[in-house]
Amino acid sequence: MAKAVEIRRLARDDDRSSFSCGQPDLDRFFEHYAGQNQFKLHLAVTYVAVMEGRIVGFASVAASALERSNIPNARLRRRLPIYPLPVVRLARLGVDRRAQGLGIGKALLRHVLEQAVDQRDRLGCVGVVTDAKAGAVRFYEALGFVPLEGVRKGVLPGEPLPMFLAIETVASTIER
Ligand SMILES: CC(C)(COP(=O)(O)OP(=O)(O)OC[C@H]1O[C@@H](n2cnc3c(N)ncnc32)[C@H](O)[C@@H]1OP(=O)(O)O)[C@@H](O)C(=O)NCCC(=O)NCCS
Repeated sequence: MAKAVEIRRLARDDDRSSFSCGQPDLDRFFEHYAGQNQFKLHLAVTYVAVMEGRIVGFASVAASALERSNIPNARLRRRLPIYPLPVVRLARLGVDRRAQGLGIGKALLRHVLEQAVDQRDRLGCVGVVTDAKAGAVRFYEALGFVPLEGVRKGVLPGEPLPMFLAIETVASTIER
């Protein structure tokens, strides 16, 4: 990444109207719902990447839970209890088209993984989950995400694929 990028929490007065990542549903979410989800409903927190004073990417994260039966790694599954397991959900990720391919998506994801390790240490967290859009599955696979157990068969072509990254892998990824 040649230019300096700052990653910080979304602020109430951030201009979100000109952001465009090429996925209208993500752009609409960022412009109209990211703020209320963070400041009014407390459902999620959005982190933004800022380059030269402009928002060039965002990642929304939330606390969530996963059933043990959805953990993809059989060895890990056997070690975990049967009640819902704490995870960090990467709910939305988008990089403005004018800034794609510069490493901003990867930097935002790294920031989310750091939040997950922090959550592990403060509240408990067994991994990160996301619903990967069809065009982004390989982006997540390259970072070690794998489909949730038993979901691949039920996902129709073009539908998002639920994916998981175990907290041990999260920790080793951010230490690299
Ligand atoms: C997918 C997205 C977030 C990637 O962000 P980005 O800033 O362009 O990606 P980066 O520049 O950080 O790329 C990091 C790596 O992932 C690769 N990559 C980027 N987009 C990819 C994709 N769609 N599929 C596979 N690999 C991808 C890059 O080649 C790069 O590889 P390298 O580390 O070997 O050089 C961005 O293209 C985007 O917002 N797309 C539209 C919305 C979307 O699909 N969001 C994901 C929703 S689940």
